Amino acid sequence: MNRALELLAKFQARFGTSAVVYRAPGRVNLIGEHTDYNDGFVLPAAIGLSCWVAIAPRKDRKLVLFSENFAELIEADLDKLPLRGCDRWADYPLGVATTLEQAGNCLRGANLYISGEIPLGAGLSSSAALEVSVGYALLHVAHLAIDRTNLALLCQLSENQFVGARCGIMDQFISCHGRAGHALMVKHELGASEYNERSAECEEAVRRLDGVVPGIRALRDVTLEQLEEHRHRLTDTLYKRCRHVLTENVRVREAVQAFETGEIGKIGKLMADSHSSLQTDYEVSCRELNIMVKISSRQRGVYGARMTGGGFGGCTINLVDAADVMEFQRRGAAEYESETDRQPEIYICAASQSVEAVDLDGGLAAGSKSGRETRGNT
Ligand code: GLA
Repeated sequence: MNRALELLAKFQARFGTSAVVYRAPGRVNLIGEHTDYNDGFVLPAAIGLSCWVAIAPRKDRKLVLFSENFAELIEADLDKLPLRGCDRWADYPLGVATTLEQAGNCLRGANLYISGEIPLGAGLSSSAALEVSVGYALLHVAHLAIDRTNLALLCQLSENQFVGARCGIMDQFISCHGRAGHALMVKHELGASEYNERSAECEEAVRRLDGVVPGIRALRDVTLEQLEEHRHRLTDTLYKRCRHVLTENVRVREAVQAFETGEIGKIGKLMADSHSSLQTDYEVSCRELNIMVKISSRQRGVYGARMTGGGFGGCTINLVDAADVMEFQRRGAAEYESETDRQPEIYICAASQSVEAVDLDGGLAAGSKSGRETRGNT
């Protein structure tokens, strides 16, 4: 059965009414890692795995949320929403509701049935997909205007302030703006565990370079020459963190050019350099990711391989010729298992569409056609 229909049936069984279904995608990042919170460049693509939300309005001001993945029902009152999360899945949807309300959106009470198909903790951005799908659905059901860029920013704000993760904007942005068959180069305008530690290190480096690098606001404003010239102001660790961010920004621009001119061999080299920079300078890779990249890189039909996302575990992204995908899946999995004794999951993804309302045939729902929606600048 079509996924939207299945969700509607489950919603009906739980809440006894009909509903509208929305989905927001996860993402992979082709190149440009840990650059977004330094006002740098990234090159993500939305993927076909999504977070799905069925929603129907209620007469009162309650939000009733059921998560299929966690088999848990949560209730909240829109007039008494919490201001901080408490380390559970519901922080993501409740944080978005709180942040949307604080930004002046008067939401409606609603029942929501949430079902995520993006593996959790795989570095494929399941949290951003949850935030964006719920935020979009809540705005839609309340007949409020939806500006996709603003929605992405509010979802990021919620994750920074309500959940407490100092993530950049990449994941929410691509979930709101992804296009089927396209990667999106995103230039960051806003500054936004171990991830938080890396972001603090970058801020510290900017403080130390302030005064000697003219007009510095973020690492984006520093050139490699300036970094070398002022290296003595940084600790070795801070120097390495900066070197990753600066060289990665250069690689993203070169990758965009290479995609445009079809120099596919160059992309593989840039992805390999990105991976080793993340491994040695930024120190966010791990043994399993390194092994997977090594194995992938030697398979037939592979143009490039590297870790993708925040790191410390998660996924690698492998650009594979369509003709060699099945063989890649078979051999890659077997070789990885023999080296690590663990079975990898290999997902075959194509660049997909951003957040949308879904009808029973998989197209755009009538509700979304009448919605007041803008895409903003991408
Ligand atoms: C996580 C964050 C993003 C980005 C990546 C690393 O996915 O949510 O904002 O910083 O890590 O590139």
